[in-house]
Amino acid sequence: MYDFAAQTDLPKPELYSSLARAADALVQGEPDAVANMANLAATIWQFLPDLNWAGFYRVIGDELVLGPFIGKPACIRIPMGAGVCGTAAALGSTQVVPDVHAFPGHIACDAASRSELVVPVLRNGRVIAVIDLDSPTPGRFDDEDAAGMQLIAQVAALAI
Ligand code: SME
Repeated sequence: MYDFAAQTDLPKPELYSSLARAADALVQGEPDAVANMANLAATIWQFLPDLNWAGFYRVIGDELVLGPFIGKPACIRIPMGAGVCGTAAALGSTQVVPDVHAFPGHIACDAASRSELVVPVLRNGRVIAVIDLDSPTPGRFDDEDAAGMQLIAQVAALAI
């Protein structure tokens, strides 16, 4: 049994360090990418408040393909460069979007989403996936969330 005590009211840097420790412990010794993505998505969901979607898109060929996630069913394939996820993957850079309605080309999978954070997962300098977080609250994500999720992306890079 995994029973991580997620204290969601911690200051963000500490919250993300404890999330990163839990994430790292979960994937230790497990080579299966799908199992690790599923557990990472569930752990992110457990630790971070005010999300309505958390999960993975993998880079396959010239598009992103839906991976394990928590939330409503989502778009399965996203062309590289399209929407927030495709932009993060094409540029290899984290996207913090305070208002998804103001992001040109935003792809609405869940109408409740108002803000979004997408972090690329890099291995050997190549984007292999992105981690996508959506929130129903405008401006939910800031630079501390971006830095924190980059730690989780580093854990994911070795586990998926
Ligand atoms: N909103 C994303 C699409 C993925 S869903 O939010 C799960 C985007 O614009 O890339």
